[in-house]
Amino acid sequence: MTQNTNHNLITSLNKALSNHFALYIKTQNYHWNIQGPAFLNLHELFETQYTEISSFIDATAEHIRSLNSKVPASFEIFNKNCEILPGNESFTASEMIKDLIQSHETMEKVLKEALQETETASDHVINDYLIGCLTFHRKALWFLKSSL
Ligand SMILES: [Fe+2]
Repeated sequence: MTQNTNHNLITSLNKALSNHFALYIKTQNYHWNIQGPAFLNLHELFETQYTEISSFIDATAEHIRSLNSKVPASFEIFNKNCEILPGNESFTASEMIKDLIQSHETMEKVLKEALQETETASDHVINDYLIGCLTFHRKALWFLKSSL
């Protein structure tokens, strides 16, 4: 069987998909479990963020399909591909924010690796899509850091 010419790009997109899923679940965990005086603001901020992240999960998977590859999708696969660690519902509000900051920074690293692969493959469409994801994560980091 011949290897898909976009093999490295597909691998990096699958990694981005898995990490986005992990960040989605973590952000929802903190949306549900956050406590403290800033509850309402952070509960709503986290909802805005996980809603945006869920759109990336779908879009990333569809970009993988557009490269003529199936999208492996199970907890086992996501876990295997994932750098972002699970959330902790016992964290204080500021521990949750710090944990999310670290996770968004990991997400930036993973997306920049995928961006590099789009340059190698001259795939301007997925390059543009990933820039959009990075724009969101930069803004999310600004909001989270400003909430500490
Ligand atoms: Fe909710």
